[in-house]
Amino acid sequence: VQPAHQRLYELHDKVADFYHYYLTGTNNGASGYDYLLNRGFDEALLDTFQLGLAPDNSQVLLEYLRQNEFSDQELIDSGIFYQNDYQEWRDRFCGRLIIPLRNERGQVVAFSGRQFQAEQSPQAKYLNSPETPIFQKGELLYNLDLARPEINRTKQVLICEGYMDVMALYQAGYENVVATMGTSLTEEHLDRLTRLSREVYFIFDGDEAGQKATKRAFDLVLPRPQLVAKSVSIPQGLDPDEWLKQKGKASFDRLLEEAQSAFDFQVEYLKTHYNLHNDQELAQYIEQVTQLIAQLNSPIEQELRMKDLAEAYTVSLDLIEEQVARKRQQLN
Ligand code: CTP
Ligand code: MN
Ligand code: MN
Ligand code: MN
Ligand code: MN
Repeated sequence: VQPAHQRLYELHDKVADFYHYYLTGTNNGASGYDYLLNRGFDEALLDTFQLGLAPDNSQVLLEYLRQNEFSDQELIDSGIFYQNDYQEWRDRFCGRLIIPLRNERGQVVAFSGRQFQAEQSPQAKYLNSPETPIFQKGELLYNLDLARPEINRTKQVLICEGYMDVMALYQAGYENVVATMGTSLTEEHLDRLTRLSREVYFIFDGDEAGQKATKRAFDLVLPRPQLVAKSVSIPQGLDPDEWLKQKGKASFDRLLEEAQSAFDFQVEYLKTHYNLHNDQELAQYIEQVTQLIAQLNSPIEQELRMKDLAEAYTVSLDLIEEQVARKRQQLN
């Protein structure tokens, strides 16, 4: 570990403790504390995830870090502080609830701040640390450190979009849960997960963006035969956190049991993106589905899917079989 990195880790550790104490140990933390409890999180969870609150005023944290002999340059390098146009030092997370972002070893490497009071509304809901020598957003899977033992045990991992989804699922007993933090799944994420797990569940938000993210994620997983991927579509446009809190754990278990295979998801996705009453689009749709069938590993499953397709659209089975055979040749 480079000495400069070591200093950044130490700084983040100190700041995380400070924010956590401000939320849980001072009267000023009451509004943030109430917000989290109202969202259904319990006190133990605030500790597990070391949630915090950044004071409205930046001075106390600034003094604390200077007493601990962090230099101005280190404060800037951390991405937590900046100097405004009047050369005043500011904590970029002022007034926000704090979610420390930990790497796989459990070290805090960055923060995300969520606004939680109506009067703050013109700004972004979440504000994250900028990229630093110890934080690359596209590579980090939020909560992988805490999720690892359960991923190891079950060889399954649940992948959501958001921090709140992770915390809600974890509190409900699904400890093998991580989040992509709103960005799309990356090859780096999958490299890591391929070594830890055999099954991945995509549980993205139940809106159009979530569907798109799921589609992209399946496309990335397809060339990796070591991983079996499934997806859960949360009904009514809800996200996993909202569904769990409104419908309860038994209902969430059912969603997991009914998770779709890559094939089923892709077919459903295609169905909503082609007008099947138009013959030209129907032909394109069937072409796409035969492509998916050609990619299936089991010849029996291929046969069943070809029959389904032929029957559903009254196309001859011979024609479908021919197409699938051609697509298979192109694959090899
Ligand atoms: N995100 C972000 N910056 C934003 C918005 C979102 O980094 N301005 C990331 C966060 O990791 C967030 C995730 O994308 O958790 C999903 O965003 P969203 O669904 O909008 O937030 P939720 O996690 O559902 O948060 P909440 O329930 O508090 O609204
Ligand atoms: Mn505590
Ligand atoms: Mn979303
Ligand atoms: Mn949410
Ligand atoms: Mn969400």
